[in-house]
Amino acid sequence: MTNGADDSGVGRRTSRRSFVRRLTVGGGALAAGLAGPARSPAAEPPAPADPTRELGHPVSPYGTRSRFETAVRVQARTPTSVASWTFTPLQDSCGIITPSALHFERHHAGVPDIDPARHRLLIHGLVRRPVVLTLADLERLPAVSRTHMIECSGNGLTEWATPTMPDVQRTHGLTSCSEWTGVLLATLLGEVGVEPAGLWVLAEGGDAAAMTRSLPIDKCLTDVLVAYGQNGEALRPEQGYPLRLVVPGWEGNTHVKWLRRLKVVAAPAQTREETAKYTDLLPDGTARQFTFVMEAKSVITFPSGGHRLPGSGLYELRGLAWSGRGAVRSVEVSTDGGRSWQAAELQAPVLRIAHTRFRLPWRWDGRDALLQSRCTDETGYVQPTLAELVAVRGLRSHYHQNAVQSWRVAPDGRVSNVHA
Ligand code: CO
Repeated sequence: MTNGADDSGVGRRTSRRSFVRRLTVGGGALAAGLAGPARSPAAEPPAPADPTRELGHPVSPYGTRSRFETAVRVQARTPTSVASWTFTPLQDSCGIITPSALHFERHHAGVPDIDPARHRLLIHGLVRRPVVLTLADLERLPAVSRTHMIECSGNGLTEWATPTMPDVQRTHGLTSCSEWTGVLLATLLGEVGVEPAGLWVLAEGGDAAAMTRSLPIDKCLTDVLVAYGQNGEALRPEQGYPLRLVVPGWEGNTHVKWLRRLKVVAAPAQTREETAKYTDLLPDGTARQFTFVMEAKSVITFPSGGHRLPGSGLYELRGLAWSGRGAVRSVEVSTDGGRSWQAAELQAPVLRIAHTRFRLPWRWDGRDALLQSRCTDETGYVQPTLAELVAVRGLRSHYHQNAVQSWRVAPDGRVSNVHA
């Protein structure tokens, strides 16, 4: 799939027949592309080429995508590639699941090469029965599968002061969505027996950075997963193979990868990643700490920065919305820089704390347009404009930038990242 040309069809409130009719009467390039040039009703369109007579590739033990599909993660400009991140190509995705091979990455010391047979998970601290678990132990316990997005809290950090990145991959691509399979942390904590004084859990990764975060016990007893599966197979190494935490709706950094230790403690450990990093500096010089939740956010992925529309006519605006607090309730779209808004259609499935697709037919008149989307989640929280966000947060923090994104469509069809 490339540049929004996905085949996801049209939705419940817009039947395919009526959409195609509008495309056909639209007279734009898209209409011409679908319906072809005008001809008499009896004329048949030219037949596609005959099937090839050459034998295809033989069966294979592990599949790969077509050589014609070229969407890839792109790496941030960082001094080293082992303390770096890569962005998911949101502009090329269809549906709500991110292919595991395209899930964004964030590593602090590279991807460790871990033999699952030798990997262990230690659970200790303020517990009655500390344990060391193997992968086989974990796989014997009751399993759950949950579809959730993970968003790095640094997603969009370049976009606070100026529209910096050229495309949606680099402005918003630090979010991805997978089906995760594993054991509820509540099940494991039930097995070990948490002491009354145990109010936090310290989670430590097995990478060279020993990435470590403190999480409140209430969250750990609610929906946190110790996951070994992603999208129907084992986790990818860059996603934490063989074990990672999945902390639904909370900043990506808390989803500790290569998980090797959980220590129940009385108070947060004040690790590097929750003091010097992953805090939010405010205009008055104080910082917010433990800002875990990723608030509601949305972005139009087609058309978006770097696209060029071939001409005026009917298009389908498409995008993704999500909220760390639950389900997306609604998405509104503006084509005039926020002066007027229209309700977009949400494409099923609409899952809690997961990417949610939206779309809206749009007839482009060929003049300057300013495309925006605005998400409201099930709690009633409304995605802020950049001005509203900056009024509270200032311009000194990096994380939790969830402002409305603006794309300008110029009369020549070129789409660019702007602040509006
Ligand atoms: Co935070």
